[in-house]
Amino acid sequence: MIVVTTPTGQIGSQVVANLLAANEPVRVIARDPDRLAAEVRAKVEVVQGSSDDESVLMRALEGAECLFLVVPPSFATNDVGEYYLRFTRPVCRAIESKRVKRVVTVSGVGRRIAVNAGPVTASFAKDVEIERTGVDLRALWCPGFMENLLRQVDALNHQAAFFAPILPDLRAPLVATRDIAASGAKLLLDRSWTGQGGVAVLGPEDLSCNDMARILTDVLGKPIRFHSVPGDEYKTQLIRFGATEAFAQGLMDMYAAKDSGLDNAEPRTPENTTPTTFRQWCEEILKPAFLS
Ligand SMILES: NC(=O)c1ccc[n+]([C@@H]2O[C@H](COP(=O)([O-])OP(=O)(O)OC[C@H]3O[C@@H](n4cnc5c(N)ncnc54)[C@H](OP(=O)(O)O)[C@@H]3O)[C@@H](O)[C@H]2O)c1
Repeated sequence: MIVVTTPTGQIGSQVVANLLAANEPVRVIARDPDRLAAEVRAKVEVVQGSSDDESVLMRALEGAECLFLVVPPSFATNDVGEYYLRFTRPVCRAIESKRVKRVVTVSGVGRRIAVNAGPVTASFAKDVEIERTGVDLRALWCPGFMENLLRQVDALNHQAAFFAPILPDLRAPLVATRDIAASGAKLLLDRSWTGQGGVAVLGPEDLSCNDMARILTDVLGKPIRFHSVPGDEYKTQLIRFGATEAFAQGLMDMYAAKDSGLDNAEPRTPENTTPTTFRQWCEEILKPAFLS
């Protein structure tokens, strides 16, 4: 039995689909089971509740062999580090109590770099906490998701631009969540690995934001430019859209670390290079959202 958290999320939903396609028994933790697709709900066991609730985790992990763990992102936290640990500590107690064998979890890139990178650093603290339990662990070391651009569909439509507080010509990996889910499912289905470590999931190529603008221009059929925003301006915007000061500052710290090469910290290899190109993702996912 494999237990999956955030089964309605970008990565979790695709992990569930991959596991069901392999005929694997799956149990999910869902706050609202009605948000699961009907065909998924028919095939999985559901434990209803939040994945930071120890009693929910204890029930979900009863008799389970593996756990796929995603800490859901939150704009509303007043302490990014503590927020990740709030989800991690009960998981650790439950995997110890229920003798779970393997955990696969989503993290950022740059574990070996000592820098404050906001939510990325918080995800590493999560991994350290899980490692202390002694469970076999693989952290998926992910750079920025292509899906982050879906939040800027309005800007692409109305301003023919997208925005971030990033150097425009810095090339870095970016990855589609389908590749992360495929890597996660592969690890969950593979019973041969042991020990603890990370598996980078780097997408097929390194691109700068200006490279992305050129591809967007081709795919969307209109000139798109990238606008590198000063950090303070970006932070003010985030807070205006409902983020807490702590969350907004965490993202600023993360972007500053990315400008210093955080996402380039893992050398690219054939094993950590994954297939979905930004152009393919734009054609299949972004363009339909842009047109609708
Ligand atoms: N974005 C990036 O560039 C990036 C890069 C590296 C790593 N990451 C990491 O990736 C993770 C996010 O993955 P994702 O994009 O797949 O997430 P996502 O799509 O935002 O999914 C989050 C899901 O979590 C569920 N959820 C929210 N609060 C919950 C709670 N209290 N208990 C249980 N479920 C809850 C929500 O489902 P319901 O509303 O249905 O409950 C939602 O579907 C984060 O840990 C982030 O640090 C992100």
